[in-house]
Amino acid sequence: MASSTLAPAWLHVPSDLNALDSRLWPQSTHRHDHGEVSLGGVSVSQLLEQFGSPIYVVDLDTLRQRAQMVRDTLSGAIALGNRSVHVYYATKSLLTSDVVRVLADEGLGFDASTMGELEWVLSSGVDPSRIEFQGNNKSLAEIRRALELGVGAVVVDSEWEARRLAEVSAELGRTQRVMIRVNSGVHAGTHEYLATAREDQKFGIARSDLASVVEIIAAAPRLELVGLHSHIGSQIVSPDGFIEAANRLLAEYETLQSEHPLDTLNLGGGFAIPYTPSDPDSNLDEIASALAATLDEWAQRGVAPSVISFEPGRIISGPAGVTLYTVGTTKQVVVGEDIETDTRLYVSVDGGMSDNLRTSLYGAHYTVRLANRSSDAAPALVRLVGKHCESGDIVVSDDYLPGDVTPGDVLMVAQTGAYCHSLSSNYNAVGRPAVVSLQGGEARVSLKAETIEDVLSRDVGLAMGPGAPGRV
Ligand code: LLP
Repeated sequence: MASSTLAPAWLHVPSDLNALDSRLWPQSTHRHDHGEVSLGGVSVSQLLEQFGSPIYVVDLDTLRQRAQMVRDTLSGAIALGNRSVHVYYATKSLLTSDVVRVLADEGLGFDASTMGELEWVLSSGVDPSRIEFQGNNKSLAEIRRALELGVGAVVVDSEWEARRLAEVSAELGRTQRVMIRVNSGVHAGTHEYLATAREDQKFGIARSDLASVVEIIAAAPRLELVGLHSHIGSQIVSPDGFIEAANRLLAEYETLQSEHPLDTLNLGGGFAIPYTPSDPDSNLDEIASALAATLDEWAQRGVAPSVISFEPGRIISGPAGVTLYTVGTTKQVVVGEDIETDTRLYVSVDGGMSDNLRTSLYGAHYTVRLANRSSDAAPALVRLVGKHCESGDIVVSDDYLPGDVTPGDVLMVAQTGAYCHSLSSNYNAVGRPAVVSLQGGEARVSLKAETIEDVLSRDVGLAMGPGAPGRV
């Protein structure tokens, strides 16, 4: 194949289109000699036959291994005799009871940011003391529920919320540990929608407004201010933003610690993962040791929080997940003058932006491989698209597949464990796919697929039957 002029500079033609880069796929991903891929010991065709297409597959053994890696890397670098590290998994990245149980078993706590996430984690058997409650617009009902349960901490995001917490804690007669989310003003290098500590966005309390929120909390007899919280954004590679945020928060901590029983500094999540072979590896080691050095410097000056906590989501759940799709149509589209080089093969699958919004929302890049067979066909530049009525319905904007990819083939997209199911929708009345858990060579449904009946069942007019008023 003449190389396409449409390929972006970062994308390289893989030397072997059948090879699987171990950085991108769950540890149990294996391409057999006969060409088909299995995940957790189960072939992809068997998975689709049993659970339908498309599906999200979550390898619980990989999830466990990621949790151990994150916990041990952060603790190994940062924990000391009088300084411990706590990891709270960001449930927004992927939430099923299977996921919660594996992570709870590894000693992780949980970050929930809505009533739904809170109830889901609790229903999975987690003690409320292991949950931190987040969110920039917690309702009174959410605040009441969190306090009744006795969550480990509520992270305060506004003055309004501080007042509501003061009222509810007094009304319920419950003492609650709270932290304040500080907008550190750090500009982390990531997509604009993934940066959460620039000045012009909704999260956290500006350092200049901190004193007034502290005052409201201090005046509330049932609120105990125990720490400061920062989350600078998501998919962040460089340690610099984390270090800058830690320095800014520790400076505030120093001011507050003489009057408040502070013990915790929560530095949020946001650690990046590679989505394509061109992306750098996660560098949690580097971030953890740089943070340890910063914390040691402050400790020498008497500013020494005894608990350093983190809230990673993607780095734990992302690599555990794969999405399997079936090809429906292919279309060679000529985009320029030269039929040889100005073409792109559009490959349409049976899902799309309803199961992976990240490509259209953030311009995210993904990697796709042929999974039901191997192929020696020459590589074709492809765009993997869905079945929705939008030209932006793109799952993988740029990658190579064997040029003989054809309807009925099974494709797998890597690193879809984080923020794919959780951002999924019913667009075009398409039901959300099942989440299938893999463990010990077995596959089982963790979240059921949404059927057409499930989708229609929300329509009350339909439930009233054909004779109902307004029917035509
Ligand atoms: N803590 C807080 C307060 C957060 O807001 C988030 C993510 C996390 C922790 C976890 O961040 P992680 O380690 O997973 O990067 N939907 C976007 C990501 C938005 C994340 C929002 N908050 C995406 O798909 O990239």
